[in-house]
Amino acid sequence: MRFLITAGPTREPIDPVRYLSNRSSGKMGYAIAEAAIEAGHEVILISGPVNVDRPRGAAVIPISTSDEMFRAVHQQVRNCDVLVMCAAVADYKPAKISKSKIKKRVENMSLELAPTRDILASLPKDRQYLVVGFAAETENVEANARKKLQEKNCDVVVANDVSRDDFGMESDKNEVTILFCDGEKKKISRAPKKIVARELVKYLKMFAENV
Ligand code: CTP
Repeated sequence: MRFLITAGPTREPIDPVRYLSNRSSGKMGYAIAEAAIEAGHEVILISGPVNVDRPRGAAVIPISTSDEMFRAVHQQVRNCDVLVMCAAVADYKPAKISKSKIKKRVENMSLELAPTRDILASLPKDRQYLVVGFAAETENVEANARKKLQEKNCDVVVANDVSRDDFGMESDKNEVTILFCDGEKKKISRAPKKIVARELVKYLKMFAENV
């Protein structure tokens, strides 16, 4: 199968030297890319700026902003069998990017933010590929993830508790619950992200073969 995987954070520029971003390390998305290659699948990886070694055998498309990720996903998605949206795409970007460096002043300052486009929600409902979203949650993890499964019209959502210190964001370990649109649910208990990724790829292949 052909996997299209997004990974890492996006950076939303404020001025030539500053940006808004998040703590995503890219480790989970890169581990999924590696696991998919190991299992004999083709992989295209659309990656935000990260410090992780490039998976051998994957075609990597580097992006920085949410708009660049939006365009790259739409360009590539028609040629894939499974899209895995593991990236932590920014929900907001500065309403205006300053061309020159914003100077320091003594008063408070505020930054006007505009919503970014939601990539998952922008995908057509009538499609030939499987869509897998990730839900990064700090409370009511499963209920919130189930809501995203429906509202973003995903086939599968991977519920990820990002409130913990012992797994999740930035960690080498993770623990996830996979929610399928047919009501099926699978939990992968705390393990190295490489192991979680292998299990996830196996479940996705099985699910894709049965839809
Ligand atoms: N996502 C996306 N486009 C965005 C923001 C998020 O496609 N502009 C995708 C992410 O890649 C992930 C899923 O939507 O697969 C859920 O992202 P998450 O950050 O958990 O949720 P949000 O949609 O941002 O909602 P909230 O922050 O309110 O939980």
